[in-house]
Amino acid sequence: MSEFDVLIATAKRARENAHAAYSNFRVGAALRATSGRIFGGCNVENATYGLTMCAERVAIFKAISEGERGFDAIAVVTDTDSLTPPCGACRQLIWEFCGDIPVILSNLKGKSETLRMRELFPKPFDASNL
Ligand code: THU
Repeated sequence: MSEFDVLIATAKRARENAHAAYSNFRVGAALRATSGRIFGGCNVENATYGLTMCAERVAIFKAISEGERGFDAIAVVTDTDSLTPPCGACRQLIWEFCGDIPVILSNLKGKSETLRMRELFPKPFDASNL
C-alpha cells in the first residue's frame, strides 16, 4: 500500500471519462491539493485535434477554479506498458502551480514509477525569469 494508492485510483477512474475519439489514447490524472482534496482529470479531444486538452491540465484547471492553491502530488494513468510522462505543455503548468512535486506514473497493470518535477523539467521558465 503506497501513500499514492488513492491518487492512482482516482486517476484511473478519471481516465474512464476520457474523450479520446481521435487518438484512442485515454489518459487519467489526479492532482492532490495540500488541503487533502483530490481533483481528477481526463484528456478531452475534439475535431480540431489541436485544441485537445490533456488530463493533467484538466485536473489543474479544475483545482485552481475551485480555489485551491498548493499541491503536493499528481498521478498520471494510461493503459500502456511503458509509462506515460506529462507532455511539455503540462510540465510547464505543473511547474507553475505545483513546483517540484512527485509525479506518479502508473498503468492499468499496477506498474508505477515516481519522478520529481525537477527531473522532468530541469531548467524551467517561470516567474523567477521575469
Ligand atoms: N495526453 C494527455 O492527456 N496527457 C499526457 O501526458 C500525454 C498526452 C493526451 C492528449 C491526447 O488526447 C492524447 O493523449 C494523445 O496525445
